[in-house]
Amino acid sequence: MKFSMIDKLFLLNALVARVTATPTSSSLVSVSVNPKVQFQEIDGFGASQAFQRAEDIFGKYGLPAVNQSLVLNLLYDKDIGAGFTILRNGIGSSNTSDSNFMNSIAPTNAGGPDAKPEYVWDHYNSGQFPLAQQAYARGLQTLYADAWSAPGYMKTNDDENNGGYLCGVTNESCASGNWMQAYANYLVQYARFYKESGVDVTHLGFLNEPQFAASYAGMLSNGTQAADFIRVLAKTIKKSGLSLKINCCDGIGWDDQEAMMAGLEAGPDPAINYLDVVTGHGYDSAPTYPLSTNKKTWQSEWADLTGAFTPYTFYENGGPGEGLTWANHIQVALRDAEVSGFLYWIGAENSTTNSGLINLINNEVIPSKRFWAFAQFSKFVRPGARRIAAVSSHANLTVSSFENEDGRIATQLLNQGNSDVEVSVVITGLKSGVRVKPYLTNNKYDLEPLSSVSLGNGGSFKAEVPAWSMVTYLTI
Ligand SMILES: *[C@@H]1O[C@H](CO)[C@@H](O)[C@H](O)[C@H]1NC(C)=O
Ligand SMILES: *[C@@H]1O[C@H](CO)[C@@H](O)[C@H](O)[C@H]1NC(C)=O
Ligand SMILES: *[C@@H]1O[C@H](CO)[C@@H](O)[C@H](O)[C@H]1NC(C)=O
Ligand SMILES: *[C@@H]1O[C@H](CO)[C@@H](O)[C@H](O)[C@H]1NC(C)=O
Ligand SMILES: *[C@@H]1O[C@H](CO)[C@@H](O)[C@H](O)[C@H]1NC(C)=O
Ligand SMILES: *[C@@H]1O[C@H](CO)[C@@H](O)[C@H](O)[C@H]1NC(C)=O
Repeated sequence: MKFSMIDKLFLLNALVARVTATPTSSSLVSVSVNPKVQFQEIDGFGASQAFQRAEDIFGKYGLPAVNQSLVLNLLYDKDIGAGFTILRNGIGSSNTSDSNFMNSIAPTNAGGPDAKPEYVWDHYNSGQFPLAQQAYARGLQTLYADAWSAPGYMKTNDDENNGGYLCGVTNESCASGNWMQAYANYLVQYARFYKESGVDVTHLGFLNEPQFAASYAGMLSNGTQAADFIRVLAKTIKKSGLSLKINCCDGIGWDDQEAMMAGLEAGPDPAINYLDVVTGHGYDSAPTYPLSTNKKTWQSEWADLTGAFTPYTFYENGGPGEGLTWANHIQVALRDAEVSGFLYWIGAENSTTNSGLINLINNEVIPSKRFWAFAQFSKFVRPGARRIAAVSSHANLTVSSFENEDGRIATQLLNQGNSDVEVSVVITGLKSGVRVKPYLTNNKYDLEPLSSVSLGNGGSFKAEVPAWSMVTYLTI
């Protein structure tokens, strides 16, 4: 069947509502969802506002107050926007907050690893502290504070930039001594400053893309070296009395993170035992398989950094910044890599690139189609949800499904083909009469609520998913 764009919504509403009709087409696609077969628990979705991007939201470039609230609501309020529940902060290593630098809480060397550190706390943290307050006020549940690098004076290259190792990890020593304990104290102190100011850091990380000597803040490490530090950090957290989980290691790609697992699992006292979440990025290789661990995993940073600016495109040609491309990335990561969290790089920023989900341009708030793709998941798949079994009979109509703690089932259908698909969905174990609410995103619509339908016998309903579209069906 082919419909014009104008007719689509009407047809869709008509078709989803036609519950009792019997299939007329022999090519009717079937999707079955089985809540009894359960997989990983979901922690949530989100992004970062590191490198002073938090300040963009707070009007660094003049965004008016009304639109500062709008962007916060779009990111963190689950009724108005995407309801992101994870925020990834950057723990600064710089001695300044000029330009894009994230200032450190210990900007100067107090005189060696055993000297009393000179901590400073500005209750601002490059805009990330007030952002975390605003996010928590709207429903944030997880604050992942991650250091890209230790301050330069703790490193082999005496520089927060250009790679270098933490002094004291395997095969890396410094004339100034072993800084592992001082770095652990420093990370815990960051969380303590937040806590004392009323904001909980829930997860601590100490690396970002440790395979890559970036010109900006960063620090090299392999799995063995990360494990050395994790053992020290775990003891330090225990002594602090703070409730903090440890994440590692934000490898630059999924394969790079996988390559670190052996080091994390080695030895008589494997560091993996002290981790809560294994984190990896999607840049160099995508999350398409589960990492070799029984810990939770998050895809903790990924973005389109090179494609043409495509804020309004859900599908044109499968380009790297298109909405459907990201809906597919998220679905594959959840289904095939079994991740519990999925984060984009930046949530909102003043730019005309695809490195954020929301663009702030000339005072306007412009959510991209990538943002709506995220929202199609994050709004309805809430922390504590479990992924459940879901299969589709059609290769172009991909499916994922989740059962929330409150019993609501959210099923995402992505039509990654050029023809509309009529589908019969069965949710095993649901009674007839249960209602399902569809939400549609494609080139024309952003998370558009459609008419709800009632399940027929055996928990089934029929629906129409337009070409190059995503529909989430939520039981209500
Ligand atoms: C974004 O930044 C540019 C300067 O780089 C400025 O002209 C513009 O007003 C800014 N827009 C917003 C919404 O902050
Ligand atoms: C600040 O750090 C930079 C390197 O990131 C270094 O070149 C500079 O000397 C430092 N400034 C001070 C005052 O310590
Ligand atoms: C690394 O250190 C270990 C002992 O800690 C030593 O056996 C090994 O030779 C060193 N490797 C390199 C490449 O320096
Ligand atoms: C990490 O690097 C160190 C030093 O080069 C080496 O001794 C160790 O075997 C490496 N670990 C892994 C897991 O490759
Ligand atoms: C806020 O952003 C919207 C677009 O989301 C725009 O239409 C509106 O003009 C902006 N408000 C102000 C006060 O600039
Ligand atoms: C799947 O989508 C592709 C791309 O639009 C299309 O060429 C192909 O015919 C579709 N397959 C089926 C079975 O519809």
